[in-house]
Amino acid sequence: MNKKLNWLVVGSSGGIGSSCVRFLQQHDHVVTGINRPQLDLEDFDSVMSFDLSCYDVVINAVGHTKGTYQGFLRNHYKNIISQINTNMIGNLLLAKNYATTRLSGRYVWISSSVLDSARPFHSVYGGSKAGSKFTLDLVQQEATHINFTEVKVGLVKTKFRYHNYCGTRTQEQVDQEYNQNNALDPNFVAQQIIKSVLDNQTFVNIA
Ligand SMILES: NC(=O)c1ccc[n+]([C@@H]2O[C@H](COP(=O)([O-])OP(=O)(O)OC[C@H]3O[C@@H](n4cnc5c(N)ncnc54)[C@H](OP(=O)(O)O)[C@@H]3O)[C@@H](O)[C@H]2O)c1
Repeated sequence: MNKKLNWLVVGSSGGIGSSCVRFLQQHDHVVTGINRPQLDLEDFDSVMSFDLSCYDVVINAVGHTKGTYQGFLRNHYKNIISQINTNMIGNLLLAKNYATTRLSGRYVWISSSVLDSARPFHSVYGGSKAGSKFTLDLVQQEATHINFTEVKVGLVKTKFRYHNYCGTRTQEQVDQEYNQNNALDPNFVAQQIIKSVLDNQTFVNIA
């Protein structure tokens, strides 16, 4: 790795986000990680006014699927709104802020293999990722000065599924599920994400 870029990882408390920060630090890149207390993606005014001007690359590793295990009808409507706000609207506004601030750069966001094989209970989560994809694929044609990268990932062993269960399962139980389903290691995913950026890829599929 010889290119030294200034990176921002949003959602650096998460499994994939923290792995990205660690990997970049290990390879001597300049990286800043921020978490929800610094920037809540549901606080749209803050998302639009956050200073992104110095970052060559922004990795948005934020997302959640709170309550999805219950399905659309039983999940609380606030969880549904929060998924759409965080995964889609917050993502799009962060990209808008970045593209209107910078003359060049790369915006990386994480989609999901759910887009290829959704089950009924994925309705809202999958919809929020599909909405991001539909929009950003078209935005790329308008914002040609910014490179967008969609990173599509399958099951990854993080805190993601634990948050889905809203405290009804322990992290140990969730980890067992991850192990039974051959979930990916977040360090491997992070490595692939960084490599895709350095290789100027616009899409990477890590299933
Ligand atoms: N893990 C998987 O199987 C999987 C599969 C497909 C796609 N993905 C995608 O991968 C990305 C990273 O997820 P992960 O697996 O690393 O999950 P994770 O370990 O649960 O991390 C999620 C991160 O998002 C942050 N976050 C959630 N809502 C936020 C908000 N409103 N504002 C700011 N930060 C917020 C969390 O912050 P807190 O620590 O404050 O909660 C955490 O840093 C997400 O976009 C997810 O949809 C994951």
